[in-house]
Amino acid sequence: TADELRSLLLGCIRDVPDHPKPGVTFKDITPLLADPRAFGAMTDALALLCARHGADKVVGLEARGFILAAPVAVKAQIGFVPVRKAGKLPGATLAQAYDLEYGSAEIEVLKDAFAPGERVLVIDDVLATGGTAEASLQLIRRGGAEVAGLAVLMELGFLGGRARLEPSLAGAPLEAL
Ligand code: PRP
Repeated sequence: TADELRSLLLGCIRDVPDHPKPGVTFKDITPLLADPRAFGAMTDALALLCARHGADKVVGLEARGFILAAPVAVKAQIGFVPVRKAGKLPGATLAQAYDLEYGSAEIEVLKDAFAPGERVLVIDDVLATGGTAEASLQLIRRGGAEVAGLAVLMELGFLGGRARLEPSLAGAPLEAL
């Protein structure tokens, strides 16, 4: 059941206080990745979401989103597309800047990553402020594809990411395992 999945996954996420800086509690997913039962259950649940929302491709957001999305693509038998931090991808790219707490960041996707109208599900480990996810949804649309949805392992509800994403999701589902 969804409740069993939730407690299996929650039991494998470790809170690390004051990382990467004082006052921040880091959600460490390495115990989950090291547990084949939990990693497998998470992959199956995400692959099911690909089918349910009619995804033709999955996008993983660097870096932890890659680890989650790659096995999902294999399981769902659809392609994987990396969205990377600026300056890493070869050839012509689309870039999208977004605001951080202090300063800004930029992510990129290859210009020809998507076929026109293709439906794309975005996968990441954590939804915090929603800045990264929002920029990725903009990249998908600019790349000529459609947003099938956004799926994350965990949502830090107190940071308000869901509300921030409402306009850019434009009715597409936000799923948090
Ligand atoms: C973390 C996390 C998400 C993002 C969420 O990645 O994996 O991608 O931040 O934050 P937001 O909702 O406020 O945008 P990070 O930038 O730490 O990159 P990493 O996975 O490469 O460590």
